[in-house]
Amino acid sequence: MKLSFTQSALAEAKSDAYVIFVPGDDKHFKEAQKRIIADFPEAKPLLESGDFKAKRDSVATVYLSGKAKASRLLLVGIGEAEKVTLESMRRAAAAAAKAATGKKLKSLAIAVPSGLSLDAEGFGEAATEGFCLAAYKLTRYFSDKERTGNTLESLTFCSENKKSLADVKKGAEYAETVSQGTLLARTLANTPDNDMYPEKLAEAAQKAGKDAGFKVTVLDKKKIESLKMHGLLAVNQGSKRPPVFIVMEYEGGGKNDKPIVLVGKGVTFDTGGISIKPSAGMAEMKMDMHGAATVISTIATIARLGLKVNVIALVPATENMPSGSAVVPGDVIVYTNGVSVEVDNTDAEGRLILADALIYAQKYKPQACIDLATLTGACVVALGTVTTGMMGTDAPLKSRLKLAGDYTHEYVCELPIYEEYEELIKGDITDVKNAGGRYAGAITAALFLKRFVGDMPWVHLDIAGTAMLSSDAPYTPKGASGVGVRLLTDMLRKWKS
Ligand code: BES
Ligand code: MN
Ligand code: ZN
Repeated sequence: MKLSFTQSALAEAKSDAYVIFVPGDDKHFKEAQKRIIADFPEAKPLLESGDFKAKRDSVATVYLSGKAKASRLLLVGIGEAEKVTLESMRRAAAAAAKAATGKKLKSLAIAVPSGLSLDAEGFGEAATEGFCLAAYKLTRYFSDKERTGNTLESLTFCSENKKSLADVKKGAEYAETVSQGTLLARTLANTPDNDMYPEKLAEAAQKAGKDAGFKVTVLDKKKIESLKMHGLLAVNQGSKRPPVFIVMEYEGGGKNDKPIVLVGKGVTFDTGGISIKPSAGMAEMKMDMHGAATVISTIATIARLGLKVNVIALVPATENMPSGSAVVPGDVIVYTNGVSVEVDNTDAEGRLILADALIYAQKYKPQACIDLATLTGACVVALGTVTTGMMGTDAPLKSRLKLAGDYTHEYVCELPIYEEYEELIKGDITDVKNAGGRYAGAITAALFLKRFVGDMPWVHLDIAGTAMLSSDAPYTPKGASGVGVRLLTDMLRKWKS
C-alpha cells in the first residue's frame, strides 16, 4: 500500500474517496456533523435524516458534486470518541476498506481525527492495519478478473496539524510494513500443497530473504540425514517430496547480542499419515505450515523495519503422507539429544519435526526461543479461534508475549505445563510417546517439546485455532489469518525497552 501524508484540509486532496471517521456520542457527533456539512454540503440530507448515527463500524456513502476532488465521501462510525481504542480503530478502518473495495476504489484520502482517546501515532498505526488487512484474498487462481482482493492501492492522510501528521506517519509506516508481513504469511499458508510443498516453501523463504534483506540457507535431505534429524526424516518417510530445513538469519543487533530464535512448524500438508484424518475438512491442513509462514514473514518484517535485534528463524518442512514407506504407529525414533520416542499416532507429527528444530536451535545459545505451530486440535477446543495457547519455561518471555498479545489483539493465554501431566506421555518402551490421549492435549504436546529445549528460555505458541479461520473476523478474512507476525514484531520492537 502506498502511503502519503499531506498537511492540508481533506477537501484539497485528490483521491477516489474521502474518509471521515465520525464519533457517535451526542456531543462529538453534533460537532462533527456541523464541520462535515460546512466542507461537504452534499452530506447534509444524510446527516440530518438521522439514518447515520456513527455507530461503530457503520459506513455511509455520500456522492459528491463534480467540483470536488473526489467523487465520494465515506463516513465511518467509530462510536464514543472517548472509547476509541487501537482495536476499535482497526475495525472501523477495516469496515471502510471493505466498503471501498466493494466499490473497487483504489485511493482514499483520510482525515486525521482529533479529540479521540487515541493519539495520532496510534491512529495512524491502527487505521493503516485495518485498511491493509481487511479485504485480503488469495487471487492467483481466479480466471475471473472481477474477483479481486483488496482494491486499495494508496492512502493519503490529511491533517492541518504538522506535529500530528508526523505522528500519524510514524504509526502508519510501521503498520504498513507489519501488515505486508501478515499478508505474506496469509498467502504462504493459503497456498495449497501442490504449489507450496517443502521445496517451494524454501524458495518462498529465499525470495523473502532477497526482498527484505536477510540470509537464507536451505538444508536438503542429504544434509538433514547427515545432521541426523530423525523426527523430520520419519515424518517425511511416506512422501515422494523431500523435506527441507530452512535457516534464516537477520543480524540487526550487536555482534555479541545473543539471537532470538523463532521456530515454525512447516507441515505443508497433514493427512495424518497412517493414522489418517477423516476427509471432511482435511483440505484445511494445507495451512499446517502456518507456523513456518509466520516465522518467515516475521523475520522479513523485522529486516524491513531494521530492528536492532539478532533473529534466527528455523523451519523444518515436510508433508505428512501415508504410503508403503510411511512411518507407522509403534515405530521408535531416537533423537540426537538421546531422547527416545514411540510414534503412538502418526498424526502427532508436528512435535516430531519441531523436536529436531529445537535441538538445532540450542547451538545458537539464544536468549530466547519461541516456536509457533498449528499443533493440536485440543488447543482449538480449549481457546477457540480468538486466543493462541502459550506454554513455556521462561516467565519474562511469557510476559513480553502477553503484553504484545494484548496490544495487537493477537491474544495469548498461558496453559500450565506442570510436571504431573508428563505421566500422560510416558512411553512403555521409550522415554516418551508422541501422543497422550484425549486429556490435556495441548499441554502434553508442549511437554513433549520441552524434552528438546535444553536450557533455552523457551515458549511454545499453539496457533492451531488462531491460524486457520473458517469464517471472517473483522480484519481477517476466513482462511489463513497471518497470526503471529504482528504479535512477534511488536514484542521485538520493544525488546530492549
Ligand atoms: N495439524 C494438526 C493439529 C490441528 C488440528 C491444527 C486442527 C488445526 C486444526 C496436528 O498435526 C494433529 O493432527 N494433532 C493431533 C494430535 C493427536 C493425534 C495427539 C490432534 O490434535 O488431533
Ligand atoms: Mn497431524
Ligand atoms: Zn499437523
